[in-house]
Amino acid sequence: MWCRSLDNLKAISSPHSLVDQPPSKKAEQSILEVWGGRPLQGKVAISGAKNSALVLMAGALLASESCRLRNVPSLADIQSMAKILETLGVKIQQDQDILDLDPTHITKSNAPYELVSKLRASFFAIGPLLARMGVAKVPLPGGCAIGARPVEIHVRGLKQLGAEVYIEHGVVHAYASRLKGAKIYLDYPSVGATETLMMAATLAEGETILENAAQEPEVADLADFCCSMGAHIAGAGTKTITISGVSKLHGTDYSIVPDRIEAGTFLMAAAITHSDILLSPVVPEHLTAVIAKLKSIGFQLTPDAHRGLRIQSKGVHVGTEIETLPYPGFPTDMQALFMALLTLSEGNSVVTETVFENRFGHVPELVRMGADIRIKGNVAVIQGVPFLSGAPITGTDLRATAALTVAALAAQGKTSIAGLQHLDRGYANFEQKLRGLGARVERVQTPISSYQS
Ligand code: UD1
Repeated sequence: MWCRSLDNLKAISSPHSLVDQPPSKKAEQSILEVWGGRPLQGKVAISGAKNSALVLMAGALLASESCRLRNVPSLADIQSMAKILETLGVKIQQDQDILDLDPTHITKSNAPYELVSKLRASFFAIGPLLARMGVAKVPLPGGCAIGARPVEIHVRGLKQLGAEVYIEHGVVHAYASRLKGAKIYLDYPSVGATETLMMAATLAEGETILENAAQEPEVADLADFCCSMGAHIAGAGTKTITISGVSKLHGTDYSIVPDRIEAGTFLMAAAITHSDILLSPVVPEHLTAVIAKLKSIGFQLTPDAHRGLRIQSKGVHVGTEIETLPYPGFPTDMQALFMALLTLSEGNSVVTETVFENRFGHVPELVRMGADIRIKGNVAVIQGVPFLSGAPITGTDLRATAALTVAALAAQGKTSIAGLQHLDRGYANFEQKLRGLGARVERVQTPISSYQS
C-alpha cells in the first residue's frame, strides 16, 4: 500500500545497514564472504545515482509544494538525509524507490550535529534553507576517511550572494533577507560548492553566473530537477552556469539519473573476472573516461539502444596510467575500483590521485591479498601479479570497500571483508545483484574478537 512513513525507511533500506543500530550485545560485525574465481554472467539493474538523490532531496527544500522523486536508491545515506530533512519539518513518505518530500511547512533552519556528522552531504541543506528561509545554521561537516574536505568555496560563494556568514562553535550561520545574484568564480570546480550555490541562486534576486563550475552529471541532474520546479538555469554540465532567480519554486515529479559509479563498479566486477555482462539502465556518456580506460586495458564495451551497456573481455589485459580529475576527467570515485583491476593486469600501471589527499586506504588491503603496489605521495605504482589470494580485509571508505569486493571476486579462495557500513552507504542490494550475476557472496555476522584483519 502507498504511503509508508519515514519510520519504515530503515526497514526498506538494506536490512544489514549499520546506521543507527544499537551496539550489538555480543559485539558482532557484518562480514562479506566472497569466494573468488567464478565468472559472472547475465544482466544487472543499475539504481538511481546516490550523489544525485542526496542533493535533490536537499533541493526539495527550495519548493513551496510537495516534490516526488523517483528512482531513489535504497541506501543508508538516503535514510540519514531523510532524517535530517524531517528534523527541519519536511514530511517524507516512501514507497519503494519513490520518495515524496513535502517541504511546505519547514519549521526549523538548524540541522542537528549528530545527524550532519554522519553524512557530509547533509551540508547541502545550507543553500536551500538560506534561500527559502533567510537563515540557515548547519554544522561544519568535518573531514572523512578520504580527506579534510573543507567548505570554504561554498561559504565564500554564499557571501558573494549577499549572505552574512560566520562560523561559531563549529556551526556555519548564514543570514540574508533575500540573496542577490552575483558573478562567482569558483577557485576549484567543487561539486558540492557548485550545487550549493546553484540551489541558493534559484531564489535569489537577479542573475547569478557560476564560473569554473563542476560539470558532473549530478550537477546537471540537479539543474534539471530545479528547472522542473520552475527555476531558470542554463549551462549546467558546462563550466559556466547561469541562474536567473525566481521568487518561488513549485512542486515536481522527477526521476533521478542512473548511478554512473555503481555502473562503473559492476563494469569492474565483470572486467576482473573476464566476464560478459549487460548493465541497464546506464548513460554511456557519463562513463566516457571509464569506458576509454577499460578499452585501453583490453575490454570491449558496447552500448545498446535501450540504455544498456555490455562489457566483454578480449583476452590479455595490460596496465595503464590513470589520473583522477574533475568531470569529464577520470572520476576519483572509480580510482580504487580500477586499482583492483590493475593489480591483475599485465605490466606496470600508474595511478595518480589529484582530487582527494588520502584516497589510498584500499592499498594495504590489496597488498594483503598479494597485490604489488608501491605508494609515493599521491602516486601508486602497480606491478601486475598473476593472481590474488583471499584474505581477511577491511574497507576504509565506500569506494575502497567496493574495490576490495571486486578484487575478492577474482581472488583465489575465500575473502572476508569487514567495514560493510561503508558499502551500505552507497550500494543498493549489492550482494543480491552480485549473486544474480553468479557470484558467490554471503553476508555473515561474526564476533569482532574472531575477526582480525
Ligand atoms: C562529491 C561527491 C563525491 C566525489 C566528489 C568528487 C557527493 C555527495 N559526493 O563530493 O562522491 O568523490 O564530489 O567528484 O556528491 N574542496 C576544497 N574546498 C571546498 C570544497 C572542496 O578544498 O570548499 C576540495 C575537497 O577537499 C576535495 C576537492 O575539492 O579535495 C573535491 O571536492 P568536491 O568536488 O567538493 O567533492 P564533494 O562535493 O565533497
